[in-house]
Amino acid sequence: MREREYSAQGGGHSRRKKKAYENRERLRREIRGAAGDILASSNFRRTRRYIQHGDMTVSGHCLDVAEYSLRISESLHIPCSRRELIRGALLHDYFLYDWHDREHRSPARLHGFYHPGIALRNASREYPLTEREKEIIRKHMWPLTVVPPTCREAWIVTCADKYCSLMEVLRFHRGQSAALSG
Ligand SMILES: [Fe+2]
Ligand SMILES: [Fe+2]
Repeated sequence: MREREYSAQGGGHSRRKKKAYENRERLRREIRGAAGDILASSNFRRTRRYIQHGDMTVSGHCLDVAEYSLRISESLHIPCSRRELIRGALLHDYFLYDWHDREHRSPARLHGFYHPGIALRNASREYPLTEREKEIIRKHMWPLTVVPPTCREAWIVTCADKYCSLMEVLRFHRGQSAALSG
């Protein structure tokens, strides 16, 4: 009896794991479909060289934020433009430098306050951004940006970014997602 209970639990556990894996693959396929050009670009690939938090690269962090943004919109049934959500999330930290360098940590160049503007400028040079994508990048550090986001997509990304950053600092999210960008 006890054995049967254990095997039933084991079956449920592996079914859940399989479902979680399939869900993740589905979201990753969608991210690749909506932003293959960003993922393949040399500047986005360059962000694999920079660490965000813990051992997570900036590239891995942005991919995770895109994936968790989709998860949030699905689980809370928030209707939104999934393509803009993905592209804004991938470009939200497109500041293209190592923020751990001493020059970026000085009080005059406080990374937390200034990097959304730098990311927006860099992303605008390479991609024709929509207003929603700009809003996602510009406001993702809210409340540091003071003015709150004005679209659902930007609210979702700011939440996903905070969650992913916390998981990275606590080392629950580790640096393996960069593989998606090829
Ligand atoms: Fe950021
Ligand atoms: Fe971020």
